[in-house]
Amino acid sequence: MKLHKIVVAVLALGVAAGALAQAKPEVLVKQRQAAMTLQGKYFGPLAAMAQGKAPFDAAVVARNAGYLEALSRMPWDGFDASTKDVKSGTLPVVYSDAAKFKQAGENMQAAVDKLVAASKGKDEAATKAAIGGVGKTCGGCHDDFRQKP
Ligand code: HEC
Repeated sequence: MKLHKIVVAVLALGVAAGALAQAKPEVLVKQRQAAMTLQGKYFGPLAAMAQGKAPFDAAVVARNAGYLEALSRMPWDGFDASTKDVKSGTLPVVYSDAAKFKQAGENMQAAVDKLVAASKGKDEAATKAAIGGVGKTCGGCHDDFRQKP
């Protein structure tokens, strides 16, 4: 690598680290909402399949489960205490009972991991059950921590 390229790479790293350290509360809220929105995008079709409202498509389930595996890790650092006063769909209990909120997030990640595993098998019923398991963790957390839309 030429020296100027190394300098550019190092500078780029510095900018990224700086952005992380200083992310504005409004930006954090936007980002966590974006992660949630994408979870909705990729989970919705699977929920329809599990409920028999759409034909089962194992390839779509496997693809979307993979997306959800990453997405389910993304929203949480956006619920930083610095965002408390930003208008959003989040209830204040997220900040006052952070341990319960964290647990609810981990429950979803565990359910998504089960779905990823199930989606690699050939068992449609087991895969649908795993989709239902994920849906419960979405709804459970929304009941406790999200304003009714
Ligand atoms: C641990 C808690 C938790 C889990 C689990 C969770 N959510 Fe959410 N979700 C929230 C909260 C809190 C909000 C409100 C975010 C805000 O406006 O600040 C939200 C908002 C949303 C929104 C609206 C986003 C927007 O732009 O306002 C969608 C869509 C959504 N969630 C989908 C899902 C789906 C699908 C799942 C499961 C795959 C899921 N969520 C799992 C807590 C959770």
